[in-house]
Amino acid sequence: MMYTTSTVNPFYAARTQRLVQAPQGQPYKPVYAKLPQAPINASPVPHLTSLYHNARAGEYGDRSYPGNCGGNLIKDLLLYFRPSGLVFDPMSGSGTCRDVCDELGIPSMSWDIHDGFDACDPEVFSARETFDFIWAHPAYWRQKLYADDARDLSRAPTLEDFLRRYGRFIRNCARALKPEGKLVILMGDYSDRKEGFVPLTWHTKRLAFESGLTQHCTDIIRFSHGASSSRKVYRSSFIPGLHDTCMVFDKPADWRLS
Ligand SMILES: C[S@@+](CC[C@H](N)C(=O)[O-])C[C@H]1O[C@@H](n2cnc3c(N)ncnc32)[C@H](O)[C@@H]1O
Repeated sequence: MMYTTSTVNPFYAARTQRLVQAPQGQPYKPVYAKLPQAPINASPVPHLTSLYHNARAGEYGDRSYPGNCGGNLIKDLLLYFRPSGLVFDPMSGSGTCRDVCDELGIPSMSWDIHDGFDACDPEVFSARETFDFIWAHPAYWRQKLYADDARDLSRAPTLEDFLRRYGRFIRNCARALKPEGKLVILMGDYSDRKEGFVPLTWHTKRLAFESGLTQHCTDIIRFSHGASSSRKVYRSSFIPGLHDTCMVFDKPADWRLS
């Protein structure tokens, strides 16, 4: 598979303008925080709580792929929800979800715009009610640029255009889920040079609710261990975002697209 990404993203926030590399010889010192105690309950995955902090990515997908996410969160979600049928990853990148499914012996399908599959196009998305579980890790608009293809969400020229296509994508997922199936989206907020702070997690919920989905459980705040931005030094002042948000949506048994 050919991965084409732009080395310089002109839209990434202004804070990158005066960026210098971290001085050599200053190793990262981990900071330890005491997490609240989780209540004991019947969960098959007790360490899966609203704060997800596994520093190990696991041997899934390709860590060098831009935007790669570790596989352990996907694994824990699959062990928790135990989908009885097919899992789908419609924006699969380096195939992290597929690798996790293979390890767990769960049947899965994975596609990406790099394969020519446009997940925003209702004509090519799967027929109705096919999947038990959809894992989606979309582009955070143009924070990272992926394929050299105008249909790539990261190439949407305006925020309005991105949100229109992202909304179509979520509707496609809602249609393709079996009743009571789960759509799990990992998304992060993004600071754009032109638009400023873009609350993509809020938009995700808004678009999911407009698609007739409901939220199943707490947001899962995934600590972003290993993000490339964390190794850089910026002269400007800002509050660093060190997480992205995993949201679990249900397709109600009586789902109807409003
Ligand atoms: C954040 S990355 C996913 C990375 C993946 N989770 C991994 O661990 O490697 C987002 C992916 O969405 C893909 N993508 C963007 N627009 C798309 C579209 N319209 N249809 C399908 N895939 C798309 C990009 O090519 C990219 O691989």
